[in-house]
Amino acid sequence: MRCYLHALLICILLAVFSSLYVLNQLASSLDAQDERTLGKPQGVPQSGRHATGERLNTKTSKDERMHLAVVACGPRLEETLVMLKSAVLFSTKLLHFHIFAEDHLHESFKEALDSWPAEIQPQFNTTTYPITFPRDNAAEWKKLFKPCASQRLFLPLILKDVDSVLYVDTDILFLNPVDELWALLSRFDASQLAAMAPEHEEPRIGWYNRFARHPYYGATGVNSGVMLMNMTRIREKRFKNDMTSVPLRWDEMLMPLLQKYKLNITWGDQDLLNIIFHHNPESLYVFPCLWNYRPDHCIYGSNCQPAEQEGVFILHGNRGVYHDDKQPAFRAVYEAIQKYPFGESMARALLLPLEAALRTTKHTYCGRASHLFTQRLQRSARHSPPSHRQQR
Ligand SMILES: *[C@@H]1O[C@H](CO)[C@@H](O)[C@H](O)[C@H]1NC(C)=O
Ligand SMILES: *[C@@H]1O[C@H](CO)[C@@H](O)[C@H](O)[C@H]1NC(C)=O
Ligand SMILES: *[C@@H]1O[C@H](CO)[C@@H](O)[C@H](O)[C@H]1NC(C)=O
Repeated sequence: MRCYLHALLICILLAVFSSLYVLNQLASSLDAQDERTLGKPQGVPQSGRHATGERLNTKTSKDERMHLAVVACGPRLEETLVMLKSAVLFSTKLLHFHIFAEDHLHESFKEALDSWPAEIQPQFNTTTYPITFPRDNAAEWKKLFKPCASQRLFLPLILKDVDSVLYVDTDILFLNPVDELWALLSRFDASQLAAMAPEHEEPRIGWYNRFARHPYYGATGVNSGVMLMNMTRIREKRFKNDMTSVPLRWDEMLMPLLQKYKLNITWGDQDLLNIIFHHNPESLYVFPCLWNYRPDHCIYGSNCQPAEQEGVFILHGNRGVYHDDKQPAFRAVYEAIQKYPFGESMARALLLPLEAALRTTKHTYCGRASHLFTQRLQRSARHSPPSHRQQR
């Protein structure tokens, strides 16, 4: 008798659990349905706070390294080196470069970085990594947007022992100490775990709000070319999502997200990040456009207000503008940093030639805004780290 009762009890429990499971599945598929039919995304208020650069705290410990990650595939070696050069030129704290590159580029990176002068060497060290994707879906991740771009999504899983990282595209140039951007990490509130700039300032020419076929963050989306990540928090967080009603870990979420949206995304991993932070807006800190200044900010007239006041801190020459003639002002900055000989006076060997080159670009809108490109450089050149001034 007892035995029979036990069996009955187990049957009832099983029945209850399986109907709960079915209901749950139903609810989440209905959620997903709503998402699609209502075409939800618009009008989520930006919860991230805007912040501007602050004066350097030169007292911070020199041992606390800033971690800079970049993914360099294809013909991006030289561009990446110029970016890294701009990072060491204008930084105070020591840097650790995490370079993800195709295997045949590793030796070239090492040779180039080793050839930098001895006075510069103590300011940084480097680790190079092969491009790797989760084994099961490597091919799918590789063909997303540009080859290798989606590597960045896996940084929290690959750099397991690194707390935080600044991820940048190869086509960005620091015009201001990395330290000031790095300092924003300590201004995150309890729920923030990443920081990016808006994709657009001006909704009338915004891309996401006019064309996206997927959810995106805030009014105009975010640009992932410059992205601070507290990876400790990313690894710990359970993310709300529109695939299941259960919050998922970062590593559990990526593949279902790609599967759901792969036919609808245009800009690859940046779109996936926009979807993630659409559902988790409290986790994103939004920094102002002067930390990610692109041709879009000046191509039809200047629309990055913070840069009007404080100058451009990071220039982002997307769409290849460092290498063609479409935006000569962007190209001039790239070439000036590329040609600057380490150890020379920045005022004389960097600023002067750059200002001369920029004067020839005044026929373009971005050329007319290019005093904003040199505003921080003038200050950075004066305040440059000791090894670029007379040795102490
Ligand atoms: C993809 O875009 C199409 C067309 O806009 C839309 O009907 C569909 O719901 C989108 N898919 C997802 C997963 O959002
Ligand atoms: C970089 O330098 C730091 C501090 O000296 C050290 O702890 C770290 O192991 C170095 N990393 C590499 C890859 O050399
Ligand atoms: C990142 O978040 C962890 C966990 O909250 C915290 O301990 C750590 O200090 C944060 N890192 C930085 C650089 O603020």
